Amino acid sequence: MNPSDSVNVPTSAITVRQLCYSWPTGAQVLKSCSLAVPQGEFWMLLGTNGSGKSTLLRLLAGLLASQSGEIALQGRVGFVFQNPDHQLVMPSVGADVAFGLVEDQLSLTEVRQRVVDALSAVKLQELQRRPIYALSGGQKQRIAIAGALARQCQVLLFDEPTALLDPDSQLDLVSQVRSLVKSRGITALWVTHRLNELDYSDGAFLLSGGRVVAAGDPEPLKQRLMQQIDT
Ligand SMILES: Nc1ncnc2c1ncn2[C@@H]1O[C@H](COP(=O)(O)OP(=O)(O)OP(=O)(O)O)[C@@H](O)[C@H]1O
Ligand SMILES: [Mg+2]
Repeated sequence: MNPSDSVNVPTSAITVRQLCYSWPTGAQVLKSCSLAVPQGEFWMLLGTNGSGKSTLLRLLAGLLASQSGEIALQGRVGFVFQNPDHQLVMPSVGADVAFGLVEDQLSLTEVRQRVVDALSAVKLQELQRRPIYALSGGQKQRIAIAGALARQCQVLLFDEPTALLDPDSQLDLVSQVRSLVKSRGITALWVTHRLNELDYSDGAFLLSGGRVVAAGDPEPLKQRLMQQIDT
């Protein structure tokens, strides 16, 4: 390759090379799985139930220890789960967003500023004092995202964040995440079964048999998966 060509090669913020993972039972979930998400892009990960999507995300987030292969991430990682009730731990919105900042040892003024900035990024600044129990599912997911933004995460991982949302909140969330990715230079990997969400992505991966079997433009992948559902 001509050295000048490298200028046009996008940098990957999420890189997985030949990752393997087996459960203690011996069941192998990932078999030399590789993928790369370019920095500043919003990619989706699809695959049938049990294909290993959540396992892969947990490995990326460091919630599971990898066994062989490589994982490289550029920047701090935030994780948004399918069920926000498993993620939001404090009684109020502001306290929950601030909770993730404890380890950063910031001053009170800095914490307040980070919380205000993160809540305004997800357009929920007015809910800062609201108890968590009084939020809708979509609002809870946005609070979980605000927590990651407050921690200045550059890589966001989403494991079916819209699975429990109604169709309107679903599309609000996916479009808002796309805007955040584009306005803040964040890189996001989003697991979904909902094919209409692919319209908001820059690209998509299909996980099957423990490895990525298709990657790239979301539209052909969407057509292929829709045909599989129809037949
Ligand atoms: N803690 C565990 N111990 C043993 N096997 C597990 C464990 N968690 C998941 N598995 C198995 O690993 C495989 C992959 O599971 P995973 O949850 O990653 O799939 P997924 O693609 O996220 O599925 P879904 O679309 O249903 O969320 C499945 O066969 C599952 O039964
Ligand atoms: Mg899963």
